[in-house]
Amino acid sequence: MRDQWNSKLGFLLAAIGSAVGLGNIWRFPYVAATNGGGAFLLPYFFAIITAGIPILILEYTMGKTYRAGAPVTFARINRRFEWLGWFQVMISFVIAIYYFAIIVWCLSYIGFSFTQAWGNDPTRFFTEDFLGLTDSALNLGGINTSLLLPFLLIWAVSAFIMYKGVSKGIETVCKICLPILFLMTLILVIRGITLPGAVDGLNYLFKPDWNALKDPGVWVAAYGQIFFSLSIGFGIMLSYSSYLPKETDVVNSAFITATANHGYEIFAGIGVFSIMGYMALQQGVSVEEVAASGIGLAFMTFPTAISALPALNAIFGVCFFGALFIAGITSLVSILQTVVTGFHDKFEVSHKKAVTIVMVPSFVLSFLFITGAGMNILDIVDAFINNIGIVSAGVIELILITRFFDAEKLRREANEFSNFSIGRWWIYTLRIVTTVVLGMMIVLNTREYLAN
Ligand code: PHE
Repeated sequence: MRDQWNSKLGFLLAAIGSAVGLGNIWRFPYVAATNGGGAFLLPYFFAIITAGIPILILEYTMGKTYRAGAPVTFARINRRFEWLGWFQVMISFVIAIYYFAIIVWCLSYIGFSFTQAWGNDPTRFFTEDFLGLTDSALNLGGINTSLLLPFLLIWAVSAFIMYKGVSKGIETVCKICLPILFLMTLILVIRGITLPGAVDGLNYLFKPDWNALKDPGVWVAAYGQIFFSLSIGFGIMLSYSSYLPKETDVVNSAFITATANHGYEIFAGIGVFSIMGYMALQQGVSVEEVAASGIGLAFMTFPTAISALPALNAIFGVCFFGALFIAGITSLVSILQTVVTGFHDKFEVSHKKAVTIVMVPSFVLSFLFITGAGMNILDIVDAFINNIGIVSAGVIELILITRFFDAEKLRREANEFSNFSIGRWWIYTLRIVTTVVLGMMIVLNTREYLAN
């Protein structure tokens, strides 16, 4: 029998667990701050309404209607679409491999928080002592023995969750982890806003620059962020919803997922930027100068901030890296599940076999990340996947479904068990607004990617 979520709440928590990831903590606040601050919320809201929620409804509906992973679902819609499912599975696999690496780093940094092992120069510590970073992706350097143990541990834990399956593994983990994540973030926020300088950080994050709205780049950034943030466009939400009972209200599930995800990113942003405000004040520089995102924020800027706190540095460090760790793990399992579901439904192998087919190669490939070249590889992969991979998979999905298939069928499926039924605007939005904006985005991103 095909696995199934135990409850709708369990499914929602898993979907929110997937959506709330590293991006909510280290990407959204920075993207917002540097794209108009408070004014960014407007294009972002627009992107949620015209792309985020409609695509979520689409993927949830496809999943629960066809009850299979991406390749088989697309094949059931039209045999000639199957390759798109495999493309999505491939992107997920690549993301899984580097998500792995980052989670391993977070785990190590939870440990470092106790002693502030990074010393006075966290950047040097991170690149040299911790990663043993080499000069290029071709020069692997040596295997980083200090990363070996956390690496094996995380691999074993995720393999265990995956073997347990969707309802016993993923659902259970998300039910336990999400409340902890919320608690840790709450501690960060409370500590953050009570620090001197917090106001400057929050001003930097939220002060609206209305002129930014005239810049098309800002709108593109909003759409880019929503794709990554809601984990849409590459089969993840589709796979999760393939384990839903048919009578689930997908429209309200989509609204709940998007609201929780966005609420969390604003909340996390308040924590992150109030602490950056504090740090800027300590160093006598502007918030702009210390603001950072991604790996730089987590492993270079934040350690400095943690060390600069007046008290309880260790607790704070554990909460920050713990939050990243949990947000990361609950996203990682969703990415892995997409690949597992893909193989399971296509080749009709047992669940255990499908998990093995995915976990063994992911182990081998993630291993590259514990060499000195890890970060170089990550940069290359990340730039490509984020700027081009995800969005192109999303646009192709929209074009195939809304132009080469009668999307009206899906609208009926979505509405059948929903309290709030969606009108034909849904199809037009996907077919026209979203496709055009995303197409534009691919052009802009590719241009930028090639220029670098
Ligand atoms: N949505 C996650 C975030 O905001 C990222 C993610 C990407 C999760 C891909 C799953 C898959 O960080």
